[in-house]
Amino acid sequence: MKILMICLGNICRSPLAEGIMQHLADKQGLGWTIDSAGTGNWHVGQCPDHRSTRVAQRYGVDISKQVCRQFSVADFDEFDLLMVMDRNNLRNVLAMARNSADQAKIRLLLNDREVPDPYYDDNQFEPVYKLIEDGCKRIINEFAHQ
Ligand code: 4NP
Repeated sequence: MKILMICLGNICRSPLAEGIMQHLADKQGLGWTIDSAGTGNWHVGQCPDHRSTRVAQRYGVDISKQVCRQFSVADFDEFDLLMVMDRNNLRNVLAMARNSADQAKIRLLLNDREVPDPYYDDNQFEPVYKLIEDGCKRIINEFAHQ
């Protein structure tokens, strides 16, 4: 299984989602490959926001070596699942889908809820971590035994 985690900047939420999902999948020996990308290009080449790195570190997840990149159409071919954090990302990624097969790979990480953008509020990083962790655990439960 290859999963791409997607948010706007690829420095706060999707790096956490990549790190948490890879950590959980590795712990279960699933052999999954997880990556992340942003729909925007402002932070390309940068490492994750230090607030995300710090909260991940508290839970034993190292995201410090990730490098920000922008989502591209080629990702539809590369990945089995494209998990977006909010409806804005959902709209942007859907708009780049070439066909129904591409569309079918896209879904909100939390199904009917959004992972809020924590960029402007330091206190949001902890709850955002927990939300993402819950979503990742659900995905593991859904796909690990297929
Ligand atoms: P992210 O958060 O989408 O979770 O990485 C953001 C990071 C940066 C910006 C917006 C959201 N920005 O506008 O620079």
